[in-house]
Amino acid sequence: MLYTDDGRSFLDFGAGIAVNALGHAHPHLVAALKAQAEKLWHSSNLYRVAGQEKLAARLVANSFADTAFFCNSGAEAVECAIKIARRYHQAQGAKDKYRVITARGAFHGRTLAMIAAGGKENHLDGFAPKVDGFDQVACGNLNEARAAITPQTAAVAVELVQGEGGIVPLDPDYVRGLRAMADEFGLLLIFDEVQTGMGRTGKLFAYEWTGVTPDVMALAKGLGGGFPVGACLATESVAKYMTAGTHGSTFGGNPLAMAAANAVLDVMLEPGFMEHVQKVAGYLWAKLTPLVGKHSKVFETARGKGLMIGLKCRVPNGDVVTRFMNEGLLTVGAGDNVVRLLPPLIITEAEVDAAVAMIDRAAVSLAV
Ligand SMILES: Cc1ncc(COP(=O)(O)O)c(C=O)c1O
Repeated sequence: MLYTDDGRSFLDFGAGIAVNALGHAHPHLVAALKAQAEKLWHSSNLYRVAGQEKLAARLVANSFADTAFFCNSGAEAVECAIKIARRYHQAQGAKDKYRVITARGAFHGRTLAMIAAGGKENHLDGFAPKVDGFDQVACGNLNEARAAITPQTAAVAVELVQGEGGIVPLDPDYVRGLRAMADEFGLLLIFDEVQTGMGRTGKLFAYEWTGVTPDVMALAKGLGGGFPVGACLATESVAKYMTAGTHGSTFGGNPLAMAAANAVLDVMLEPGFMEHVQKVAGYLWAKLTPLVGKHSKVFETARGKGLMIGLKCRVPNGDVVTRFMNEGLLTVGAGDNVVRLLPPLIITEAEVDAAVAMIDRAAVSLAV
């Protein structure tokens, strides 16, 4: 719940755009950050940082990866992934391999390279020249992805469920096809799990639903539960070319961020946590699906995975977000006229009932 100064209360189904995975003021996170705040805030990556080593070991133990680099945001995490891909090829002598295939509708952040990776005209407008090195293909079309490969292609990078693009889940067959394509052509496969990662889809990482693993993965958002932190995870065989000094960050992985992220993992790795996410997500989907049918003038469909849900609207999504807010429910707009439901992973069935009642009431008022 969030409360305004003038006493109104809101059920937060936006969670700071999929960041507050454990809600607001979670007692374990608050205690961990307070305890760290009384010790060391920052020391720099000139020295070993215990929290970094602990977090890296836990992320590695629970993923495909062998190694981790910590940064401060999602965009930095994806940039690091792109740098790993370029260096992997270039360190082995393929000096002209630098291009990355990305999907139309993708969002990877707002740095100069990441707006080029995302390719959205309104994100690029006014910031020319566009950073070279990204080739966009239709999302979900394997033939188009294969046709885009040139001798300069280094990697392919996708979100497993496009977030900002409007909650567009990739077909697992397509993801497996991308893995096979990457293997056939010697490309690295990069998953941007900045939004899908950290339990959002009902598994710690969304790739776990697909049966394939990437070579590199970007994380942020839910990783710190609200504290800014990002991570780039990779297998050793591709990350080994990132030798000391090739990449860096002053703040990345600082003790406060590591305390927050380790506290998030304490909760998420508890036995039964992901089962709760899957169960409450199933409960929400079971309520939502008939509601979309009932309000077919307002909603076209509900799509997504776990607690990453998009309501594709027939009326302007901004109006829907506003009506939901008037009812006391916070949600987030996305591309393709979608409203995102991204509740904290700790929501209860009673909170789902409350949200569904608000959606129902708002939809009645939107239909008139
Ligand atoms: C899939 C994905 N990648 C990257 C980013 C960029 O993250 P940040 O805003 O922390 O740089 C976002 C942010 O919405 C995202 O959803």
